[in-house]
Formats: sequence, C-alpha cells, structure tokens
Amino acid sequence: MDFTMQSSLNVRDFPGLHVACIMDGNGRWAERRGLPRTAGHRSGVEAVRRIVEASPGLGIGTLSLYAFSADNWKRPEAEVGALMVLFRTYLRAEIARLRRGHVRLTVFGRRDRLPEAVRMAITRAEWETRKGNRLHLRIAVDYAGRDAIRMAAARWASETKDPSAPPSREVFASYVAAAAHCPETPPVDLLMRTGGEQRLSDFLLWESAYAELLFLNTLWPDVTAQTLADAVEAFHSRDRRFGGLSRRTGT
Ligand code: FPP
Repeated sequence: MDFTMQSSLNVRDFPGLHVACIMDGNGRWAERRGLPRTAGHRSGVEAVRRIVEASPGLGIGTLSLYAFSADNWKRPEAEVGALMVLFRTYLRAEIARLRRGHVRLTVFGRRDRLPEAVRMAITRAEWETRKGNRLHLRIAVDYAGRDAIRMAAARWASETKDPSAPPSREVFASYVAAAAHCPETPPVDLLMRTGGEQRLSDFLLWESAYAELLFLNTLWPDVTAQTLADAVEAFHSRDRRFGGLSRRTGT
C-alpha cells in the first residue's frame, strides 16, 4: 500500500465550525496530584478522545489541536521524548476508533525533526483515515504560526512573476497551509485555550484573524464534552461582525 500519497482535501469537504484548541494545563494537572508531568499528558489524551467524539454532534466540522509547538523542543529531553511516544501510540491506537467515527486525521507542522517512528505513524494514520467525512481532526506537531507565514512568503516570492502585486488573501492562505504541510483549511471560528493563560502562543495566526477567542481556567485533562458544548454555546452568543455592522441590530 502506498502510504506516501495524501489524498486531496477541499475546504468545503467539512462544513461546520472550525474550532482550534490550545491544550494547556497538563503539567499543572499532574503536579497538583503529585504525579509526573507526563501523567498529565497521558490524561490529556483522554480529553482529546472526549472532544473528538463530541465534536460532530456540536456542529464542528474541523478541529485543530495544538499538541506540540516548535518552541516545545526547549522542554527537558525526557518530557519531549515522552510526548513523542504518546503521539506515536495515539496515532497507532486510534486509527480504528477514528475510522469508526468517520474522522479524517491530518497532522500539520514540520516533519523533518520528528523521530522516524512518529513520521511513519502519521503517514499511516493519515492514509487509513483519509475517507473520513464527518470531522477533520488536525493535530499540530512541531508547528509555529509565524514560521508558516514566513515560509509561505518565501515560496510565494520565488514563484510569482510580478512581486509588486501582492497575492490575494485567498491565494496567500493556500501558501500558508502548504507551508505547514496541511491541506487547505477554513478560517478558525473559535480559538479556545485552557489552563488560564490568555495568549496565542504562535498558533494559527493567519487562520485566526477573525476567530472568537475563549480562555478557560479549566486544565486540559479536565476538559469534557460539556466543556466543549459550553464553548460552542458561548461562540454562538457572540456577535461576529468581521469589521461590518451587527447582523442582529443593524447598528
Ligand atoms: C501544554 O500543557 C500541553 C502540551 C505541550 C502537550 C499537549 C499534549 C496532549 C494534550 C497530549 C497528546 C495529544 C494528542 C493529540 C495525542 P503544559 O504541559 O504546558 O501544562 P502546564 O502549563 O500546566 O505546565
């Protein structure tokens, strides 16, 4: 079987909300229980399962999860190693469940710095789930939003015949997606971060231009289907104007 070919994906393949999550608080969750930080990450995987399962029922078509940032390489080697093992295990163990739920999984970010076993697990999981059409689950590994924009700019500059005419936003968006090795993706509707911090940490900067932001004190391993349902409800109560006037009041 040829695992190297990723079948194409269109932004309209997964209608519904695009929700992005910065999954913060695993370490604190573990420390509060006197456990090693890696126990928090393992528990974080359970929360991932819960929200992947809940997403389609909440009108979510695309779910982007920040699993490992390009800056996370600065963490102690043991923690990075444990996270890599966790990703590999998740990708291998989860294929059957994802296929049953008609979930398509793709991973975005740099691949060249990942251990070979993780790269192989990614390629296999992407291939095995390519027919999923209920939810597009996107996992960011070794990802940095600024690098995606930087690489996109360099690529565009090398390809354009007229550098004085900037690309349209739509065209540039496809360069940004390609730079992070991901299929084109709709803009983020809701960006939520757990763990109490209120920052973006270099996640999906271009794609989140008009995202609604939600910061929760809940630690990631404590996230449940209800947490996500409440987040989606909060999103629907927002008045999204995209720089225009309110659709509700016309003012
Ligand atoms: C941030 O919390 C979390 C991470 C750097 C890792 C996220 C990984 C998972 C949730 C598990 C694996 C995910 C998948 C998709 C298989 P932190 O460690 O910075 O927490 P702290 O701020 O409390 O220290």
